[in-house]
Amino acid sequence: MTERTLVLLKPDAVKRRLIGRIISRLEDKGLKVVALKFMQMTHDQAENHYSVHRSKPFFKDLVSYITSGPIVAMVLEGPKAIEVVRLMAGSTDGSKAQPGTIRGDFSMGIEKNIIHASDSPEAYSHEMPIFFNESEIVEWSYGDEIIY
Ligand code: CMP
Repeated sequence: MTERTLVLLKPDAVKRRLIGRIISRLEDKGLKVVALKFMQMTHDQAENHYSVHRSKPFFKDLVSYITSGPIVAMVLEGPKAIEVVRLMAGSTDGSKAQPGTIRGDFSMGIEKNIIHASDSPEAYSHEMPIFFNESEIVEWSYGDEIIY
């Protein structure tokens, strides 16, 4: 079933000039970009985005980190997109993430872990409107779609 997921390339990915390489991996897999934005998150957006972690001891640092520099926000579409991107991202802690995953290949940290991806349809519904209006999501077709 085709679904959508919200993906962020975090400030460490941008500062390390990894935007292109990570988007290439996601496109190579077969995910379609249907919205894309380069931006700096506000404090309010960050607190809202990470509201499920509000009670965690790392919440304050997480908000200050994600607002510390520009990010890339995107909506990707594809069959089981949420599960597929989570698998590609790898374990949250980059030092434990499998080589071959994005975090496994590019991160040694748990805070500076390169990428965020929605972990459920409910999370997508909460996260996506923080970054995009519904009208900014473009329905389009490659014209040579692979039959999944
Ligand atoms: P992300 O997928 O963006 O979702 C929540 C983020 O919280 C997670 O990636 C990590 O960057 C961060 N995080 C999770 N656990 C910890 C932790 N124990 N210490 C610091 N940051 C954490």
